[in-house]
Amino acid sequence: MSSSRIFEAYAAKTPGSARLYQRALENFPNGVTHIGRHLRPHPLFVDRANGPCKWDVDGNEYVDYFGGHGALLLGHNHPAVTEAVVRQAPRGVHYGASHELEVEWAEAIRSMIPSAGRVRFTTSGTEATHLALRLARAHTGKPKVIRFLGHFHGWHDHVAFGADVPAGILPGVAEGMLLCRPNDIEQVRELCATRGDIAAIILEPTGATFGQIPCPPEFLRQLREVTLEHGILLIFDEVITGFRVSPGGAQAHYGVTPDMTTLAKIIAGGYPGAAVVGRPEVFEPMSGSPPRVAHQGTYNSGPVSAAAGIATLRVVRQTRITQRANDTGAAIRDGINDVCQRRGIPWCAYGEFSGFHIFTNPGRQPVGPADIYAGKVPFTVLKGGTRQDLVHRIRAGFLAAGVDLTGWPGGVVSGMHGAAHVDRTVTAFEALVGMLEEEGEFQP
Ligand SMILES: Cc1ncc(COP(=O)(O)O)c(C=O)c1O
Repeated sequence: MSSSRIFEAYAAKTPGSARLYQRALENFPNGVTHIGRHLRPHPLFVDRANGPCKWDVDGNEYVDYFGGHGALLLGHNHPAVTEAVVRQAPRGVHYGASHELEVEWAEAIRSMIPSAGRVRFTTSGTEATHLALRLARAHTGKPKVIRFLGHFHGWHDHVAFGADVPAGILPGVAEGMLLCRPNDIEQVRELCATRGDIAAIILEPTGATFGQIPCPPEFLRQLREVTLEHGILLIFDEVITGFRVSPGGAQAHYGVTPDMTTLAKIIAGGYPGAAVVGRPEVFEPMSGSPPRVAHQGTYNSGPVSAAAGIATLRVVRQTRITQRANDTGAAIRDGINDVCQRRGIPWCAYGEFSGFHIFTNPGRQPVGPADIYAGKVPFTVLKGGTRQDLVHRIRAGFLAAGVDLTGWPGGVVSGMHGAAHVDRTVTAFEALVGMLEEEGEFQP
């Protein structure tokens, strides 16, 4: 392991995590249960969480921007959600039958998401995008799907590859996907005009990884036009953006209604739950006896997740929590950019709504958020351009200063974060910058 002072500072405050990691290595490949939790010199082991914070097994407190991988717009343990779960659990956690809560949950979703004519629950966002693509193929009778490099739709075989197809994915499955450059409407137009075999286009509507590769709203409108012209289904993957960008998701915010939408994370308030929603007609392959598209799933619309989802969506509908999270996201981006300018660091923070991304500017050209939004930075640099050793030092440095970031590097903000958390985050960033300076990171 590298002898970085940043890793030393992190390791010194987290001996309990180091010990648990040794046990985890005996149990899990790579010692973790999700690729995003891998961290040098060891991942953080958390003991409890509340509101916008969590505490590790050594008792250290962290401002949390992992946010349940984006599920916790309401922060950890929102009283309304906890109360709904505690009320439901003794009434049964799995009925193996239809129940009223699932109907109420679907009604809440339909009242909020413009494209939600019908709802089909799944357990994860990965299952939701898998089902959406299968339905699109069955509905249109066409085999191919367009998706965009860098956009993330989970880990099933149709979506878990980019320019290179990794081990374990059948070439035939990969051939079913047409990969386009993000925001390149001419490439999409040409494919749609020259091929008659395209069922659907799927994308993250604020751009790859919650806007790490930003997506101009104009691109959404252009996609809507071209898909309508050619009878192709438009699918918004709102697994992150749903209920977060606005209570009606990115589609309500931008006024572009897709044919289908995939939702997860906030939909179930941090409990397992997800859905495909869309125009009633696109679900036609699921009706009939037997249906052309069969869909099972032991945990679909479990009553505890339904209770948590109903409670969460009620808070989203009835309060300004989405706006509060968006405002705090902006304050964090401003604070980090202020440090960069003051200390002459060639980095910047960017992002929209309740997210932030730290651009580490590998090319060292003068780049600010406006340049990123003007499309002046290649998408391969925005996503994947930060060296892995630097990602680990950024995360470990923030943790040493009491803040937990995702490996984008960046984070998602909840409506429970406030000015004091912003201050702690900006202070942590400044401490990180100081340590990176000592390690020569910013030298030309
Ligand atoms: C946009 C998007 N789609 C799909 C997924 C997959 O969801 P899940 O992790 O619930 O399978 C994610 C997960 O982060 C996501 O961000």
